[in-house]
Amino acid sequence: MNPFRDSLACVTGGSSGIGLAIARRLAAHGARIVLIARTPERLSAARADIVSLVPDASVETVALDVTDQAAVRQATAVITAQWGDPRFLFNCAGDALPGQFDGYPRADLHRMMAVNLEGTWNVTQALVDALRRTRGHVVNVSSLAGLVGTTGYTAYAASKFAVVGFSEALRNELAVDGVRVSVLCPGDTDTPQLAAEQAHKPPETAALSARARVLSPDQVAKVCLSGVRAGRFMILAGGDAQLIVWLKRFAPWMLFRTMDRVVLRARRETRSAP
Ligand SMILES: NC(=O)c1ccc[n+]([C@@H]2O[C@H](COP(=O)([O-])OP(=O)(O)OC[C@H]3O[C@@H](n4cnc5c(N)ncnc54)[C@H](OP(=O)(O)O)[C@@H]3O)[C@@H](O)[C@H]2O)c1
Repeated sequence: MNPFRDSLACVTGGSSGIGLAIARRLAAHGARIVLIARTPERLSAARADIVSLVPDASVETVALDVTDQAAVRQATAVITAQWGDPRFLFNCAGDALPGQFDGYPRADLHRMMAVNLEGTWNVTQALVDALRRTRGHVVNVSSLAGLVGTTGYTAYAASKFAVVGFSEALRNELAVDGVRVSVLCPGDTDTPQLAAEQAHKPPETAALSARARVLSPDQVAKVCLSGVRAGRFMILAGGDAQLIVWLKRFAPWMLFRTMDRVVLRARRETRSAP
């Protein structure tokens, strides 16, 4: 059975990267889609991209900043009035800025919390009644950094650990109403966000991520939708993520010692560089 066929799916961050890849796959499965992001031109380009792949796709776009709670409430009221109650909500909108903890700007910490946690909260809260009516499914995008904290990601990890905690509590709260909640935790994925992050990574962070395999957005989208079909709460994307989460659970000392060694080596190399 295809749960996506003819269902309405809202995808925040649907104009790029992982959100766009999820929207493409949803369209291929026959879902009706509402793409949500801030920039109208990127939304139009994403819509054209999806329609070029699935010519009969139903794709609407809504330009919205998910951190603006009043605007979110207004926009979601229009979405439900015009296109009906969504059966799926994918909260993919997110922001990441790595940097060393000393001197990390508070404004960037606030932005990360606002987009990654509060944005997810705002859209979910505005649509929760509609999701109850459809006995729907919410998928919040956290990260592998929301399960294992690594150097250079104090702000981002804090926001993504918060998304995991929020999702776990919400799962328990909405299960009695027949609404499912999942949290997607991908490792590094080849998107514009990752490209932007590379420019800001401290050398120790770059050394750690150099060891990780980079996923394609479509690989993540595929794992995400099969996790949704299977009704899984925690959806891990990528073999690295599976291994790292296993190590953290059963041999944390081994994981932390390995990470600390990589960081120490990178620090020494940076200090001894001419
Ligand atoms: N790429 C990775 O390696 C990776 C790994 C793990 C988790 N993730 C998470 O996956 C999610 C998607 O990331 P991505 O890599 O696909 O990023 P991306 O390609 O940069 O896409 C981010 C999307 O979010 C939208 N967005 C950003 N801020 C927004 C706001 N305030 N309101 C509404 N929309 C907003 C962007 O459009 P506008 O800028 O036009 O608003 C864009 O559509 C994020 O939550 C990210 O943290 C990414």
